[in-house]
Amino acid sequence: MKAVLASRNPKKLKEMQAILSSLGVEVVNEEDVGVNVEVEETGTTFEENSLLKAKAVTEATGLPAIADDSGLMVDALNGAPGVYSARYGGEGLDDAGRNKLLLENLRGQLDRRAKFVSVVTCCFPNGDVLTAQGECAGAIAHAPMGDGNFGYDPIFLVAEKHKTYAQMTPEEKNEISHRGRAMAQFKTELEKYLAAHSG
Ligand code: IMP
Repeated sequence: MKAVLASRNPKKLKEMQAILSSLGVEVVNEEDVGVNVEVEETGTTFEENSLLKAKAVTEATGLPAIADDSGLMVDALNGAPGVYSARYGGEGLDDAGRNKLLLENLRGQLDRRAKFVSVVTCCFPNGDVLTAQGECAGAIAHAPMGDGNFGYDPIFLVAEKHKTYAQMTPEEKNEISHRGRAMAQFKTELEKYLAAHSG
């Protein structure tokens, strides 16, 4: 089976290829099949946005398409930034600016609980849909720590590790991260689906 990853992120493509190669699934990016699908993430949940992306790419290519949507949910901010994680504070901010804003919005707040969520969706040309979800519970640090990885990693503390995501190697992060868990669950779902639809 060949599947298209609905993302322009080369790191995500490599990760997905590594995870699905043992199932005999070849994962390619949109460029490889000659499309460049612009999808407005108009949904209000990770599920909706991930489905919007996967559906648009499967419709454009006629191939199974996989998408993921993820973000950070902070308890004391009623789940914000959530689906707006990439755009928190407006388009003008970079990762460091968004982290600073989040820390300012939590100044004096004792409840630092937060979680990262990732939803992976795979749409097939016949209309079938598979989804998988992964979460990682943690807390927002009082100041950035570590400089690895990306996004909100320097301010997201994983209690069981006593480290932020940014203080972990990519492999260490992958083992416990929301995306790592969603992808592992997705692999199981896809394996079951392929077994039921083979021959
Ligand atoms: P997307 O689903 O890949 O578009 O991610 C949405 C946004 O959530 C990113 O732009 C980041 O701000 C944030 N995000 C998602 N996953 C992570 C992560 O593993 N570390 C840090 N930030 C993340």
